[in-house]
Amino acid sequence: MKVGVFDSGIGGLTVVKSLLQHQLFEEIIYFGDTARVPYGIKDKNTIIRYAIEAVEFFKNFELDLIIVACNTVSAYALEEMRESSTCPVIGVVESGALATSNTLHDKISDILIIGTKATVNSKAYERELNALGFENLQAKATGLFVPLVEEEIYNGAIIDATLQHYFHNIKTPHAIILGCTHFPLISDALQNYFGKDVILIHSGDAIVEYLEKIFKFNIRYPEPNLQFFASENPEALRVIAKKWLKL
Ligand code: DGL
Repeated sequence: MKVGVFDSGIGGLTVVKSLLQHQLFEEIIYFGDTARVPYGIKDKNTIIRYAIEAVEFFKNFELDLIIVACNTVSAYALEEMRESSTCPVIGVVESGALATSNTLHDKISDILIIGTKATVNSKAYERELNALGFENLQAKATGLFVPLVEEEIYNGAIIDATLQHYFHNIKTPHAIILGCTHFPLISDALQNYFGKDVILIHSGDAIVEYLEKIFKFNIRYPEPNLQFFASENPEALRVIAKKWLKL
């Protein structure tokens, strides 16, 4: 089983981490479009164009599956990627909504969706969650967390001020969908701010659950082969990958 994991930059490594923990693939090819990140402030047509280019890149590898780790791309470009791909393409929005539904049994639960401006404007999570019967939804674009995580700032005064800036008038929800690849890295800060009872939905864990439940993945590959590619400075991406994934 050979998978391509696509993200706009380094954030998708949080999804690779979940894939590695669950040993679902024999080979993982990661591609981060580091030359053009962030996608979350770009318009739909640009996001689709970049996403199709990523499919072209992956054609060099004879993949069995492409996982779109990027929430922004998952929200806008899945259909177009599927049309240009020779292998199946799955994203993190549908799997995130399903994971939320499997976790929250009460349909009146309050759910807060956080993501980039583009993801929030797309209302992609709302569509999936409404179809699953959830209606108490709130979404907030919290893009400032992206550069902070890129700077490896996961807690402390700047994070606290940013949490306060975005959430001071938001009632504590039952669950928060971490609708951006970078946000799992600030899980502890979110949990400290909102309290330990808030359930955080993580794209990486959601995609693993989706592969196991819907695609019936049950073979384990304890020693996967990993390759990391980037459209700019791949060496920097490999350094971060080693650190985040503890390779
Ligand atoms: N990877 C993006 C996402 O998950 C966040 C970074 C960006 O804006 O490109 O939405």
